[in-house]
Amino acid sequence: MPSTTMSAIQKLYEACNVSLSENGSLSAEAVDNIRAVLDMITPSDVGLECEAQAVRIWRSPRALNRKTVFHSSPAIRYRHIYECKSFSIGIFCIPASSVIPLHNHPGMTVLSKLVYGTAHVKSYDWIDTTEPLNLSKVRPAKVVRDGKMSAPCGAMVLHPAEGGNIHAFKAITPCAILDILTPPYSSEDGRHCSYFRRCPKSDPSGILLNRTKGSEFIWLEEYQPPDSFVIRRDLYTGPGLKL
Ligand SMILES: [Fe+2]
Repeated sequence: MPSTTMSAIQKLYEACNVSLSENGSLSAEAVDNIRAVLDMITPSDVGLECEAQAVRIWRSPRALNRKTVFHSSPAIRYRHIYECKSFSIGIFCIPASSVIPLHNHPGMTVLSKLVYGTAHVKSYDWIDTTEPLNLSKVRPAKVVRDGKMSAPCGAMVLHPAEGGNIHAFKAITPCAILDILTPPYSSEDGRHCSYFRRCPKSDPSGILLNRTKGSEFIWLEEYQPPDSFVIRRDLYTGPGLKL
């Protein structure tokens, strides 16, 4: 198909298909190629123009009742677009004030594009420790990002060990995030999603204080998110893929 007539989501799939592999290795050039296509994605390219338009109205000073929008769709929704052994493509639609808690992508690279709306992003990378910490399930992590982003904006790239592989989103307005995961989550290959929270003890041992002088870090512990955290699968309604 000539690239001029190809849908944006088809171009994204093609860029991923030629660049991504099952073992997760990818070059800087491949990241740049995929990011260039991802950065061009608009809400209408993925069937979310009505939702994006609702956010424009929601943001308007004349919006009558923002709570109506928020309460009419309380669940976080995942619209699955594609998955193979090398990568997955999907979109999270997050109602205002909802949170995707801190979670990791072990051994995976993530390209994340905010399609519409505004979100607060917090992300961390583990701090390498050469000495045994002897702190079951508690690990130190450095802050990579802690700030707001609004669409349209460039995609974020999270590498396995840098760029903020452990991250959380809080929707400030209703928002949608398109994620490319390479390789995808796979429990049988040891890539499952874990959730984390800040350890109540701010510094259980103190041993890393000097080693991380000058950089902000926190202690994270694995936990089970509350039952109120639910992600529902939803139908992807955008242009289809020709495989
Ligand atoms: Fe994520």
